[in-house]
Amino acid sequence: MFLLNSVASLVKDRRGRFSPLRAVTLAILCAPMLQVMVLAAIGGLGGRPVMEATHKTGDWAVYFLLLSLGVTPLRAVLDWQRIVPLRRMIGVASACYAGVHFLIYCLDQHWHMLTVASEIALRFYLTVGFVTLLGLLALATTSTDRMIARLGRRWKKLHKLAYPLTVLALFHYFLQSKADVSAAVFVAGLFAWEMLWRVTPHAARLNWWPVPLLAFAAAVTTAAVEFAWYGLATRIDPMRVLSANLDLSYGPRPAVAILLAGLTLALIAGIRRRWRQRGGVAMA
Ligand code: HEM
Repeated sequence: MFLLNSVASLVKDRRGRFSPLRAVTLAILCAPMLQVMVLAAIGGLGGRPVMEATHKTGDWAVYFLLLSLGVTPLRAVLDWQRIVPLRRMIGVASACYAGVHFLIYCLDQHWHMLTVASEIALRFYLTVGFVTLLGLLALATTSTDRMIARLGRRWKKLHKLAYPLTVLALFHYFLQSKADVSAAVFVAGLFAWEMLWRVTPHAARLNWWPVPLLAFAAAVTTAAVEFAWYGLATRIDPMRVLSANLDLSYGPRPAVAILLAGLTLALIAGIRRRWRQRGGVAMA
């Protein structure tokens, strides 16, 4: 009954009416968790199911964290005001995935909490993950209407912590990656796009033209991050990795994928603006 009430309140808008957009968002946020649960139940998580579940929940914690930070830029770029109230739900989902990720790790350690604590203290990537987790949980628990009202202006300041926490989450992602950091580089590229949008002058943000420029700038930043990582943290020649960006025979490298994603967003933004200028019905 409590669960049903909670779900019902999540899919209602501020006026207490059922919101299809919130319902679809909730379904999207729950889908990866349900997928992990179903795969775990039918033995579809491969030879190391617990590790696979750790990876999947960690991935989604990062994706949803980035999506929550992407709400403001996407609202501006796509001129889509109604996504703003979804930010809180997405941010809390990220913290929940991170929490489950940690619990699965504890399960992997057979709930020997002393071992868990000593591993977190001794392994740097786990220490970074733990600090990130504490930060995300602090943000999630202060995201209720009551806490927002209670903290007043301090709430906004506190929630700016989402940015350094994302840097830590990405650092944890890079550190745990083995030789190939492509997946971590790609999400770092998404974060770079968001940060570059943040530093774009307010007046320029009202236009459509900075969006394709951002795609190029984010792609260059992504290539630079990848170059720096291979140069500083591995023995792999960073120049070879950099030049691989021009070779598409193995599929697009992260910087190219970021460029394509950014240009696709620019195209959607352009079509959407044109459509609205012609008097199209306001979407959602
Ligand atoms: C105490 C907290 C945490 C612990 C103990 C932990 C533990 C782990 C472990 C054991 C792995 C797999 C390492 C391997 O394959 O060798 C991992 C990967 C990962 N973790 Fe965490 N983690 C923590 C917090 C976080 C947080 C807060 C996030 C994100 C917000 C996160 C995101 C990830 C990601 C994205 C991966 C890589 C998944 C992949 O390669 O597909 N972790 N973590």
